[in-house]
Amino acid sequence: MSRSGITVTEHLLRQQRLHPLASGAFTVLLSELIVAAKIISKEVRKSGLTDILGLTGDINVQGEAVKKLDQFAHAVIVERMSHLGQLCAMVSEESADIIEIPVKYKRGGYVLVFDPLDGSSNIDANVNIGTIFSILKKVSPGEQVVSADVLQPGYNQVAAGYFLYGTSTMMVYTTGGGLNGFTLYPAIGEFLLSHENITIPEKGKIFSVNMGYANYWDENVTAVMDHFTQADPEKGLPYSLRYIGSLVADFHRTLLYGGIFMYPPDKKDPKKPRGKLRLTCECAPLAMLVKEAGGLATDGETDILNIEPEEIHQRVPIYIGSREDVETVMGILKG
Ligand code: AHG
Ligand code: MN
Ligand code: MN
Repeated sequence: MSRSGITVTEHLLRQQRLHPLASGAFTVLLSELIVAAKIISKEVRKSGLTDILGLTGDINVQGEAVKKLDQFAHAVIVERMSHLGQLCAMVSEESADIIEIPVKYKRGGYVLVFDPLDGSSNIDANVNIGTIFSILKKVSPGEQVVSADVLQPGYNQVAAGYFLYGTSTMMVYTTGGGLNGFTLYPAIGEFLLSHENITIPEKGKIFSVNMGYANYWDENVTAVMDHFTQADPEKGLPYSLRYIGSLVADFHRTLLYGGIFMYPPDKKDPKKPRGKLRLTCECAPLAMLVKEAGGLATDGETDILNIEPEEIHQRVPIYIGSREDVETVMGILKG
């Protein structure tokens, strides 16, 4: 029996009780990540009022101008999660290399992969942004962290989720037993269960893509967009276009309303022929979530969860959302 309004902590403990061998380490890990998200959320909420807006002047490993809030979110998560004793390593979108837990701290058996702030280009416009996370278990023996511990396919994830800093702050996560959403109740500082057992509609009426790149797509991708934009004489335009430009917000709407989000490969940047989104800290966690909700995520050929990462910042094309819409796109892409 579960009632709405239970705290995420109670929900985590229930999940833990379902796994008799669970040591509670995982619950401790997620609980601390929630504290970090609350700190980030507070900063996001007042970022319009402090000098934290704007750029640090740094350029990150992705070659993108780092906004102060990106750096702040990255630092909060690294700082809070380092001395927890549950992690052996972290991978952050904002850090070129694997972040090993300092030997002075007790190490644990989990790896945290995260995008500390997703949707950075929207920070100054007060548009929804978020934090995306993925949790893996260390696979190599002993204390030493090796690349195999972080370069794991998405089906190895033990948990995934995101925090969405929007009109309200939400947390959506899964540990493999269903997908649930929690909304932060500021008056008591707790995330309360608000979206129980989320399932994505089999088919939607919204497609989400940056149509500004139409000249950079190949003919198969163009055929996909024709499918969504060609009016059907009987039924009129079948789909609406919605694009926020924050992956976490576009995904959240797709999850709740149905439809499909796409970031196809494009010829815009020769360094990024496979598109812009990162496999380990963006696409794989969202692919786990959408699968739990009954949807699909593919790079156009392969289920995102089956892709073996070759390097921690690898980019992949992504088509993610309602099962029928993603299957239709895969059929068109096959030509
Ligand atoms: P991040 O801010 O973590 O770098 O992510 C930005 C990503 C993602 O949030 C969004 O879907 C995409 O950038 C938008 O890219 P375009 O501006 O090329 O459409
Ligand atoms: Mn991102
Ligand atoms: Mn980011």
